[in-house]
Amino acid sequence: MDQMAVLQQITQYINQLFHGDASGHDAVHMKRVAKWARRLALDEGEDPFLCEVAAWLHDVGDYKLFRDPAKVIEERNQWLFKLGFSTKEKDIIHDAIATVSFSKGSLPSSRIGAIVQDADRLDAIGAVGIARAFAFGGANNQPIYNEDGLGSIDHFHEKLLRLKKQMNTESGRIEAEKRHQFMLHFLEEFHREQ
Ligand code: ADP
Ligand code: NI
Repeated sequence: MDQMAVLQQITQYINQLFHGDASGHDAVHMKRVAKWARRLALDEGEDPFLCEVAAWLHDVGDYKLFRDPAKVIEERNQWLFKLGFSTKEKDIIHDAIATVSFSKGSLPSSRIGAIVQDADRLDAIGAVGIARAFAFGGANNQPIYNEDGLGSIDHFHEKLLRLKKQMNTESGRIEAEKRHQFMLHFLEEFHREQ
C-alpha cells in the first residue's frame, strides 16, 4: 500500500466532509489530531500509519456531528476497503475510533484507541484548546464568562483542567502537562483582568 497516497486521499475526504464546521471539529482539528497521533505512536512503539489514519477519521460518524451516524460509519468502512485496507486493518481502525467517540470517559480497548484518544484530548487543551472552547461557546450562544457559572470559562474547570490526569500514554501525559500549565496561566490572567 502506498501510504502517502492513501493519506493524501484521506486528507481530501476529510477536508470535504468537515468543510465549514464552526464547532471546533473542522478539518484542521483532524489534521492536528492526526499529527499528534503519529507522534505519540512513534514514541509509544505503535503503528504510526494506522494511528494516523484512525486519527484523521476519528470524528467521522460522531453522533453529535452527523444526522445518521450509522450510515456515515458504514460508508467510511466501505471506503477503507476501496483504499486497500484489509478487513483486519479496517476493524482495528473502526474499534479505535468507536472507543474515542463513544466512551470518552472510559478506557479505550486498544493501544491505537488509547493513542487517538490522547491526541484528541491534547487538542482540547493548551492554546488550541482555549481557542476551541471559545469557538464552541460562540457557535452555541454561550457567554465567555458570567457570574452564574454558565460561561465557556466554566468548561475549563468542569472538563479541560481534568484532562491531563486522564491521559493514557506517557508521551501524551508529558505534552498534556505543558498545555495544562499554559491554561492555568491563561486563567490566572483572565481573572486578574476582571
Ligand atoms: P470531541 O473533540 O471529543 O468531539 P467535544 O465535542 O466534547 O469534543 O468538544 C469539542 C470542542 O469544544 C473541545 O475543544 C471542547 O473543549 C469544546 N467544548 C465542548 N463543550 C464545551 C462547552 N460547554 N463550553 C466550551 N467549550 C466546549
Ligand atoms: Ni475530535
